[in-house]
Amino acid sequence: MDNQYLHIGGINVKELVHKYGTPLFVYDVNQIRNNARAFTETFKSLDVNYQVAYASKAFSSIAMLQVAKQEGLSLDVVSQGELYTAIQAGFPAEKIHMHGNNKSIDELEMAIEQNIGCIVVDNFYEIELLEYLVEKYNQPVNVLLRITPGIEAHTHDYILTGQEDSKFGFDISSQQASKALKSLINHKKIHVQGVHCHIGSQIFETQGFVMAIRKIYDMLSQWNEEFNYQAEVVNLGGGFGIKYTEEDQPLPLNEYVVSLVNTVKEQAEKHDLKVPEIWIEPGRSIVGEAGTTIYTIGSIKELPNVRKYISVDGGMTDNIRPALYQAKYDAQVANKLNEPIRETVSIAGKCCESGDMLIWDLEVPEVESGDLLAVHSTGAYGYSMANHYNRFPKAAVVFVEDGVDRLVVKRESYQDLTINDLSYE
Ligand code: LLP
Repeated sequence: MDNQYLHIGGINVKELVHKYGTPLFVYDVNQIRNNARAFTETFKSLDVNYQVAYASKAFSSIAMLQVAKQEGLSLDVVSQGELYTAIQAGFPAEKIHMHGNNKSIDELEMAIEQNIGCIVVDNFYEIELLEYLVEKYNQPVNVLLRITPGIEAHTHDYILTGQEDSKFGFDISSQQASKALKSLINHKKIHVQGVHCHIGSQIFETQGFVMAIRKIYDMLSQWNEEFNYQAEVVNLGGGFGIKYTEEDQPLPLNEYVVSLVNTVKEQAEKHDLKVPEIWIEPGRSIVGEAGTTIYTIGSIKELPNVRKYISVDGGMTDNIRPALYQAKYDAQVANKLNEPIRETVSIAGKCCESGDMLIWDLEVPEVESGDLLAVHSTGAYGYSMANHYNRFPKAAVVFVEDGVDRLVVKRESYQDLTINDLSYE
């Protein structure tokens, strides 16, 4: 009855569960590679200089960063922890970019010591810290200025926020961005390679990117006139949408790239500026659909004519997105793929919290305790946002590729949970 079982990357999930237990994150590595290549191959075909930086906040582990490295990606890190992981993974420092709206002096120091490719400068305080550190280390750095172009993507539409009300970056309209450039333009050790913007996440259209690029170019044109400055790099961030449920209709990844590149070329030409290197920072679209979480179904509670609750052995500790953003997921009973749909159930997590519901109203075959549930598209912001609420140890992560499975993050033990606790007796 093996065809009743879900297979991932050529492996039966029954075998994976037998070997590694549940809850279990399973990544199909071919899918990660294909997503990465959809971006890189499209850039190559458009004859433009580019970098595709994997946004490691979506899922960071040594193995994952090694796959990103193998695929020739650059890397976006937002903390010392993500930078440390990158270094442990042997990621080439010159391809690492560091973000953050409140980088600490330790974080910046590590970035400079490691000589990473570029720091995405977010605010005036950070400029002061950098000015101090480049002297202390007597080392030059490359920076991008993070700009808030006043466009926010809300998945299906875009909001023009006149006041550019965001904790991130320098705004354009009140001239903060120009002021930041002016303060660095003649700096001997801080080289402004260009600008960065990120308009949002889980975006299904190209319109918002086009609007952002136009605003950036109005600014770059002004910078050219005023400071004789031309950006070598324009980084347009991440945010390319993925399919969680049937409702989601993302574009093929290459279409985002084509639109971004064409708009940058068109705007550069319009303003008589040279075409810069174009960088992007996709996270979710590289790993999201490649990840599946396998749970074991435990208790089943039926409220006649109301609802049937099916509880699994994980929940908001391994996937906080439904509780935090009302995010929707699709799932299958992984050991009953060919059985007819019989009922509508709701999937509950096991945390002591009523809000710990993973899926409302999922159609399934007849479910019994002991069945396996596979929740799809959990590869981004699942493990990376996992937490220890109720002292549940974090799940294990397995990579499968061409019929071979490899444990890449061990399941936490109970000892791990108390390792930093000190006695007060
Ligand atoms: N670059 C910057 C500057 C970002 O802030 C982000 C995401 C990305 C790139 C990657 O975006 P992506 O391609 O993954 O959409 N925890 C939320 C998502 C927060 C995203 C924050 N920034 C979630 O689970 O949906």
